[in-house]
Amino acid sequence: MEYRELLAKAEANLKSKGILKNYCTQEGSSLREGAETNFVSRFNHSYFERFGFKFRMIDSREASTEVTLFNHRFSTPILSGAFSGMVDITEKPLEKIASGIRESGSLMWIGIASSEQVKEVLQTGVPTVRIVKPYQDMEAMIRELKEAEEGGAIAVGTDIDFFYGGKRGDKVFAPKAMGPRTVGELGKLVKSTRRPFIVKGVLSVEDAKKAVDVGAGGIVVSNHGGSVIDYAAHPLEVLPEIKRIIGDKMPIFVDSGFRRGSDVMKALALGADAVLVGWVLLMGLAADGSQGVTEMVNVLTAELRRIMSVTGCRTVAEIGEEILVKRDGPI
Ligand SMILES: Cc1cc2nc3c(=O)[nH]c(=O)nc-3n(C[C@H](O)[C@H](O)[C@H](O)COP(=O)(O)O)c2cc1C
Repeated sequence: MEYRELLAKAEANLKSKGILKNYCTQEGSSLREGAETNFVSRFNHSYFERFGFKFRMIDSREASTEVTLFNHRFSTPILSGAFSGMVDITEKPLEKIASGIRESGSLMWIGIASSEQVKEVLQTGVPTVRIVKPYQDMEAMIRELKEAEEGGAIAVGTDIDFFYGGKRGDKVFAPKAMGPRTVGELGKLVKSTRRPFIVKGVLSVEDAKKAVDVGAGGIVVSNHGGSVIDYAAHPLEVLPEIKRIIGDKMPIFVDSGFRRGSDVMKALALGADAVLVGWVLLMGLAADGSQGVTEMVNVLTAELRRIMSVTGCRTVAEIGEEILVKRDGPI
């Protein structure tokens, strides 16, 4: 199926289950409800319009989208979001996404999940990153980190942007009591595992520097898809300055609002190593289970490959800011 067909099928399936509102603000919308006025959800989507691509056709070749992350080779830099929930869409949603991600040669990320769900994901054999919530209870965090490490996760981490819970509309939500973490506490978490430790939810150079200080193995520049605070910065507004701090010390992942291969290309040009996509893969799952997830990753990867080829970038490493034009005025 093509991109729009996948979305239309997902929307029809969600509608027939009476759960469309859980995932789309309205019919035909690729926005999900976020905090308060929902500005972030809208802006996450529209900010990509500020960048255009230059053509570099002469001497160009069909591009390769392969990337290496944590010593594993992947066929695409388009990775799953750190997923949880979605049991209203289908049975065993995380396992189904994991199988779909494995088939597309990508990297799976999991967020809130039971031990059983973590095991089911890892048993699919897909390379997996496990993000645990920043519970007040540090020992509970360390238990979840260890469980993931022992089960074979290739990296682990926490979403620091959830220190004060999430927010949808006017409601703050958190599955358990959360707690802000100091640099010292983050350092203790990093040391509690032998796997690279990912700090997810970095949205400033200050936190990026602290991630370096604690010995993180990667960061995710993210506003959590709009579900933390209203008017959070767009990841691409802060990515270039964060890249200057991080350099090549660790992989930089980015997420929030990515819907097409063109969006991914813009993040790669501004310094990201790979991009996590949440909502779009959720729609792939809703459209056609594992198969829908695989198809969606493949569709976005094909879009990315075509843009890379047209802009004269033969590999992901060759993608740089010089392929972009920035539109600062009204669009
Ligand atoms: C259904 C769903 C569940 C999510 N659960 C988690 C989670 O448990 N932990 C986490 O760090 N992020 C979680 N996220 C956020 C994603 O990891 C990611 O930051 C966000 O989806 C990116 O924005 P996008 O949906 O616009 O692509 C979840 C996202 C979705 C759609």
